Amino acid sequence: MSQVFYRKYRPKSFSEIIGQEHIVRTITNALASKILSQGYLFTGPRGSGKTTIARLFAKALNCQNRKAGDYEPCNKCSSCLEINDNRAIDLIEIDAASHGGIDQIRELKEGINFSPTKSKYKVYIIDESHQLSKEASNALLKTLEEPPAHAVFILATTEIHKMIPTIISRCQRFDFKRLRLPEIIKRLEIISKKEGIKIEKSALELIALSSGGSFRDGESILDQTATFCAKAHQKEIIIKTEDLRDLLGIVETQKIIKIIDFLLEKKTAEAISLFNETFDQGADLQQFVNEIINYLHNILMFKIGGEELHNPLTDGLTDEEFKKLKEQAIKFLEPDLRKLINLFLDAQTRMKSSPILQLPLELAIAEYCGIE
Ligand SMILES: Nc1ncnc2c1ncn2[C@@H]1O[C@H](COP(=O)(O)OP(=O)(O)OP(=O)(O)O)[C@@H](O)[C@H]1O
Ligand SMILES: [Mg+2]
Ligand SMILES: [Zn+2]
Repeated sequence: MSQVFYRKYRPKSFSEIIGQEHIVRTITNALASKILSQGYLFTGPRGSGKTTIARLFAKALNCQNRKAGDYEPCNKCSSCLEINDNRAIDLIEIDAASHGGIDQIRELKEGINFSPTKSKYKVYIIDESHQLSKEASNALLKTLEEPPAHAVFILATTEIHKMIPTIISRCQRFDFKRLRLPEIIKRLEIISKKEGIKIEKSALELIALSSGGSFRDGESILDQTATFCAKAHQKEIIIKTEDLRDLLGIVETQKIIKIIDFLLEKKTAEAISLFNETFDQGADLQQFVNEIINYLHNILMFKIGGEELHNPLTDGLTDEEFKKLKEQAIKFLEPDLRKLINLFLDAQTRMKSSPILQLPLELAIAEYCGIE
């Protein structure tokens, strides 16, 4: 079985990391200058590189070939190889999501004072650290207050607001950013090349757009689409934008444009029936509403700032479609447009608890078309 992309392409050195420049710079400086702290806290959205950078940091710390002033791990010594293969004894990964981590934190406290087996440091990566139970948090706090010199802690979390302040204040904090589209596109392009996948530029953009800033999700979509498009006895895999639309259940922009036209003309029944038709054809309604909101957002930005606020890289539109968007932007009155976006945003929230999935949308359309 071949490995999934997000494992296969987990960066093995700092140079492969995309984005997070401020974090990479501070950490590599710390490594090079040997000015280390014993507690680090990585917070930020999923799939943005927290676990990846934590492991790289651990690898560089324990690399046997790293010279003073360097920061990259060699990926050749036994310590680096053990970490790459997930079998390093002195890198201890704790998942706080399982039972609040109490058993593992207890184990940690029992073992932490023994020197590392083979390496210079014992590195503890505590994932999902916001899920540590109260008991586990308190136990960890005591250790963080007075760790032995050979211990380094890296806590990772997507929800820092759930962590106790005393733990946060014991750590050096790094705020990871959602990855930007051009960065995601660039690295997906590299991976595609390595995998012998020929992919249209617009398809890459669509993947990046659908990833929501999580590179893991971007890689998974690419992976899935490649499997979907692979043909027996053919070495090269070709991915077209339409393949992706099918696979992701993305509604064609043409339909969105048409719905917006109906709304502009206040044609309630036509707009609702086009909605229902799309739904019946198997579109994911939440996703569909997301796309409409995204499209309306582009109209709004164009209305407010013209070409200046319009980002061709993130709109996912062809030139033809963008021309149409401009026409629609001119037809909308700005307050109406704002009203419409708010209605859709509300509908989207209400859809989550509505007994009839499409009802909040139908109400939003009817209400909008009822405006004089
Ligand atoms: N900044 C990045 N540069 C390069 N690859 C990345 C980056 N962020 C994530 N990836 C890719 O995505 C995968 C998942 O990343 P990682 O496990 O580091 O995310 P995370 O921030 O820990 O997410 P989670 O909060 O879900 O645990 C990695 O294996 C890697 O392939
Ligand atoms: Mg992680
Ligand atoms: Zn090494």
